[in-house]
Amino acid sequence: MSSNMSLQATRMKSITASPSMVVSQTAKAMMADGIDVVNLALGEPDFATPDNVCEAAFAAIRDGRTAYAPPAGEPALRQAIAHKLKADNGLTFDPSSEIMVGVGAKQVIFNALMATLEQGDEVVLLAPYFVSYPAAVELLGGVIRVVQCRAENRFRPLAAELDAAMTERTRWVLVNTPGNPSGAVFTAEDLASIGRVVSAYPKALVLSDEIYEKIVFTGATFTSFGRACPELRDRTLIVNGLSKSHAMTGWRVGYGAGPADLIDGMTKLASQSTTSTSTISQVAATEALLGDQTSVVENGKRYEARRDLLVTGLSEMPLLEPIVPEGAFYLFADCGAMLDRTTPDGQIITNDADAADYLLREGRVAGVPGVAYGLEPFVRFSFAASDAELEKALAHLASAVAKLG
Ligand SMILES: Cc1ncc(COP(=O)(O)O)c(C=O)c1O
Repeated sequence: MSSNMSLQATRMKSITASPSMVVSQTAKAMMADGIDVVNLALGEPDFATPDNVCEAAFAAIRDGRTAYAPPAGEPALRQAIAHKLKADNGLTFDPSSEIMVGVGAKQVIFNALMATLEQGDEVVLLAPYFVSYPAAVELLGGVIRVVQCRAENRFRPLAAELDAAMTERTRWVLVNTPGNPSGAVFTAEDLASIGRVVSAYPKALVLSDEIYEKIVFTGATFTSFGRACPELRDRTLIVNGLSKSHAMTGWRVGYGAGPADLIDGMTKLASQSTTSTSTISQVAATEALLGDQTSVVENGKRYEARRDLLVTGLSEMPLLEPIVPEGAFYLFADCGAMLDRTTPDGQIITNDADAADYLLREGRVAGVPGVAYGLEPFVRFSFAASDAELEKALAHLASAVAKLG
């Protein structure tokens, strides 16, 4: 085999490493060179997993809970998820057939697409969208149809534009509320409007990614798609997980709740690939869902205070316009006013990738360009960072934008 022949299959050409990881790695390389960078590129809570959850995991190890779990997940965890969906969202799911636990929400999404997509089936994404959605669709032979949800519509899809993106080949519409990177929290009416469009396409399913459910700010109210559109119950998959709500990104627990036939397909895939997520993590996740929720509420308040700090700081600065997020922990700033400006070394900023690159190299603040999420020109800043880091970031950004000609 010649040395320049790739070992990877052709389908791998459709995907790249996650852009937020790439920006983050550049930031880390700069830090390793002694440059003082504030990394606001990654979407990861900076809080510790609550003590009661960690204690449950220690106890699970001591009790010898170290064998494989069933591919759909530990029965006690599925019960806890059913309880949560009922108590928080008013939704009823049978834990023995309508719920499956995965290796994070990401794997649940991947399995749902893999279990259902035929070659050439279409998947509607609402831009700005989570970066892993298009990657999974392309890898699995689906065709992406994008609906641009503009800032002036508060990142909601217009019914007519959603309808224009749908065809008889539409298999999925992917909804994400609260949204990454937009921070938009869809109202019950926003979701009902999506549901009305989808109901006219009998083959179309809705995946509602509700992973940021617990991070919703004053004035906004979270509604599950399942609650807003009960008539689509047999075509809806609710996806959620513990990563963001309980600061458990590394434990890898997510779940899906939906029609038994779909859950069965997703579970078969798990049984032949991952088997299950860690049994110890599942015991911990059960405690996270059923135990004390104080940290969830407190962390939500902390994110809101940080959101306010970042919004206020950016509002006082020219060229970066914050779109106030209603939930999640990202601020999607409009950087349109930076375009066509000249950097101190004579480069013209032509798009948001240039803008994010400039803010990283000159401002020493890592953010992710909107192009990664299918909507330009924006830069996403995560506020899962301390007040001190956010204040430093604001000072750095202000001095960087002031240097543009
Ligand atoms: C919208 C969205 N969905 C899913 C995930 C992945 O969550 P998990 O850690 O449960 O795989 C993320 C993580 O960044 C996300 O932003």
